[in-house]
Amino acid sequence: MKLNNDLAKALNDQVNAELAAAHNYLAMAAYFDSADLPGFATWFRAQSQEETQHAMKFYDFISKRDADVTLAAIAQPTQTFDSPTQAIEAALNMEQAVSAQIHALFGMASDHKDYAAQSLLNWFLDEQVEEEDSFRNLLIQTRAAQNDPWNLQVLDKELAARPTDPTPV
Ligand SMILES: [Fe+2]
Ligand SMILES: [Fe+2]
Repeated sequence: MKLNNDLAKALNDQVNAELAAAHNYLAMAAYFDSADLPGFATWFRAQSQEETQHAMKFYDFISKRDADVTLAAIAQPTQTFDSPTQAIEAALNMEQAVSAQIHALFGMASDHKDYAAQSLLNWFLDEQVEEEDSFRNLLIQTRAAQNDPWNLQVLDKELAARPTDPTPV
């Protein structure tokens, strides 16, 4: 079934939105590295890698539906924050915006009766529930720890356990 042109364009926009999220999370990883919080940096690096995988899910879907993948420029990410809490608030806001984008895409796929696109987007609807929940939890933990250097170090050690893809050599 031919992918509707408007839907193809919106899915391409989402490839870019996911890549922009990856770029923003990598910038946050760099912020945490410079703030000497390597565990937070590892957690955000893994998050960045996950967003790249999301972009590729949309990329593959567009390509397999015989439409063109078109990449666009990505804006320079914010890399300076007043505090760890402020960075995580920005991340949560970004996830909430992505959830709204996925909802809009699902509505568009429904309008066009594109059930395969709806199936793809169902996965993303569930994923966004998980994403918002995980950032909300991280925000609660970081707010609780931010005024106590020892607690912040303990949280940083915990966050370091999140697996990342190996660094290429
Ligand atoms: Fe994503
Ligand atoms: Fe996300």
